[in-house]
Amino acid sequence: MLHILPVSEQPGLMRQTLTPQEQSADLTLEQLKQLVGLVDYDESNDPFPVTAMDAVVFVVGNATQAAQFYQLALGMDLVAYAGPETGVRDHKAFVLKSGSARFVFKGGVSPDSPLFDHHRRHGDGVVDLALEVPDVDKCIAHARKMGATILDEPHDVSDDNGIVRLAAIATYGETRHSLVDRSKYSGPYLPGFQAAQTWVSRPAGHPKRLFQAVDHCVGNVELGRMDEWVAFYNRVLGFVNMAEFIGGDIATDYSALMSKVVSNGNHRVKFPLNEPAVAKRKSQIDEYLEFYGGAGCQHIALATGDLLRTVDQLRANGVQFLTTPNSYYDDPKLRERIGKVRVPIE
Ligand SMILES: [Fe+2]
Repeated sequence: MLHILPVSEQPGLMRQTLTPQEQSADLTLEQLKQLVGLVDYDESNDPFPVTAMDAVVFVVGNATQAAQFYQLALGMDLVAYAGPETGVRDHKAFVLKSGSARFVFKGGVSPDSPLFDHHRRHGDGVVDLALEVPDVDKCIAHARKMGATILDEPHDVSDDNGIVRLAAIATYGETRHSLVDRSKYSGPYLPGFQAAQTWVSRPAGHPKRLFQAVDHCVGNVELGRMDEWVAFYNRVLGFVNMAEFIGGDIATDYSALMSKVVSNGNHRVKFPLNEPAVAKRKSQIDEYLEFYGGAGCQHIALATGDLLRTVDQLRANGVQFLTTPNSYYDDPKLRERIGKVRVPIE
């Protein structure tokens, strides 16, 4: 599920610098402050400094069709590809961007691909919430000291475009956080990937992009384990608590959940963590855990500075929305209340 967010005004000193992804997307610090609530913070005291999301990596049943959908419907641009044509035997991977957001869609092509095993257990889903970090080794040393499961030890991968330093730690369910330092790399994604170009054509007047950044990525965890995972992000990744929604805050007759939000120091990376709460009907979190086969990433929230234009275009592109009253987006008076456009998507 994708969740489209309007920008919100948030105070904060601006001593952060733009990431290469933000620079290449022509975003400014002021826009990032409005889009994702970027704040100043002192990285030198952070035991596990995180700069930004590096990528959201999905495993899907048919990567080619997913890549086509995200180009056509979500307006994303294809930037890199790896697969049989580039020497990868068992799977395909497509890298798509919109603003500073990077999504990677991977899917098996040969029946013995390990990706199909994951897909058989979970169906389509997020396998990796990859984080851009300035010092992979420092992060892993701290994570190990704090008792995290290290899935990949720090190592270099390289090609003609330079060197990327990588490692990975485990989080909830079968989800991982890859840690990526691409400061010595100029290629389109990672070694092994070739540059690729959007293959769909868009109708005249289609905006350049429909969203500019990932705002947050939500993890659904088992009943009674939310605080455990909040403590994990506090202890291992040095994340701070931003907000909590307990009991009746997010409850209807049909669903209820408890949620606490953790974020990295500069607030670019925000992870709400949900667990089920009691309601008249089964909690939507229980339904997720049952259908996904355990804890996992429930939704990705996308930041746009032009919510009305984005929603109109997504609808025109065939994207279905969860039910809100039609008047919410159609009624001229309600549209006015959503407010002025702060970061145009053109
Ligand atoms: Fe959300």
